Parts: sequence; structure tokens; C-alpha cells
Amino acid sequence: MRVNGMLIAIDGTAGTGKSSVGKAVAAKLGYGFLSTGEMYRALAYKVFEKQINPEDHDAVLSAARALRFTFARQPDAALKMFVDGEFLGEKIHLEEVGNVASRVSTNAEARRVLTEKMREVGENGGVVMEGRDVGTVVFPDAEIKFYLDASAEERANRRVKQLQEAGQKADYGQILALIKERDYRDSHRAASPLKPADDALIIDTSALNMQQVIEAVLEKLEHHAS
Ligand code: DC
Repeated sequence: MRVNGMLIAIDGTAGTGKSSVGKAVAAKLGYGFLSTGEMYRALAYKVFEKQINPEDHDAVLSAARALRFTFARQPDAALKMFVDGEFLGEKIHLEEVGNVASRVSTNAEARRVLTEKMREVGENGGVVMEGRDVGTVVFPDAEIKFYLDASAEERANRRVKQLQEAGQKADYGQILALIKERDYRDSHRAASPLKPADDALIIDTSALNMQQVIEAVLEKLEHHAS
């Protein structure tokens, strides 16, 4: 065990509810919750803002090195991210930024830079960390690892609902295509491809609602502790 408790890794494909589940589990345990995808999105945002080509290896690497992250724990357990002192807010959650994030995250050296920053946040434990390679690369020694998955169609449905609830336009076909494209890129890249760690507990969330996934994770944690 670490100074402040466990480091719990939650990995999986986009749209499986990793963030909501991770946050709920962290709140229950009194832990902090970190979304590592937000850090890739922050890099993507800066790349976009500085009009850097996401395929320009050295420029993306410099942008990654220049990022200064600080985090403030919120009442709901989330570690609110500030980049160079600024809260980027909803800007990083735009579909376009997610796509650039998926592209800059193929840069192996930029990944190493961000991975080091993630380790600083989690090394003392007491953190639920969500992403794609937390259990495989960032913390291969995590005390417990989860991998959440769901069919692409189910994830597209969830995303459409989410966007509609936020009052935004949503095209199911377009979203499904984007999800499939991103899955392919995330799982076929040479650097840290998306895959479950050998010792990850895999949960298929296709037929489960959020509450059921949270319960499944908490139940496995109880088993793990006993
Ligand atoms: O989880 P998300 O959709 O916010 O992540 C955005 C992108 O960042 C995703 O396409 C892949 C990348 N990512 C990654 O490569 N490794 C992580 N640990 C987290 C995210």
C-alpha cells in the first residue's frame, strides 16, 4: 500500500463511463479522481491553439514538455486540472479536440512526458486514475486494475444522449464512425496501444447502467480487500 491508499487504475475504450464510475468510486473511498485523457486533451488543445501539426513529432513533444499541470481536489473527488494556471473548462471536451488528442497521443515521447506527470499525481496512492494505459504503462504496479468495455453502438448511443442532454446537436452515424475510428487508432498505435493489462478485471458495461457498473467495481474492490 502507498502513503495515502491504493492507486486504482480504470482503463478502457471511450464512452464506457470510466469517468463517472471512477469519480463515484473515488468519492466513496475518499480518494481523488484523475482523468488522464484530460491531460492528452490539454496537449491537443495547446497544439490546436498554436496551430501545430499534430503529426509534427518535435513540435508536439516541445508542447508536451511546456505544459505545467496543477490539480485541485473538488468535493466530488475530481482533481480539477489547471494548465499553466488556467482552467480550460469545456473547450477540451469538444469532439474535435478529442480527435486531435487521439492523434497527438500516438507520439511516444510526448506520452513519456505526460506519463511522468501522471506518476507524480498518483505515486502516493489515494487516487483513482482513469485512461487507456494506466494499468499497463503508467502504473503497472497499481493495487487493482479495471478495464471497462462496451460495444461501439452502445457507446455511440450514450454519447448522443449525453450531447442531447447538454443541448448540443448529435448525429448518431457520424458519432459511431468517429468512435470506431478512434478505437482503431487507440488500439493499433505502436506506443502504449489500448489493451487490458494481463491482471485487469474486465467489465463489459454494454448491458449495465452506470449504477450497476459502480456496484460491480465496488464489489470487486471489497473482494480484493478481504
Ligand atoms: O478518455 P478521453 O476520450 O478523454 O481521451 C482522449 C484521447 O486521449 C483518446 O483518444 C486517447 C488518448 N489517451 C491516451 O492515449 N492515453 C490515456 N491514458 C488517456 C487518453
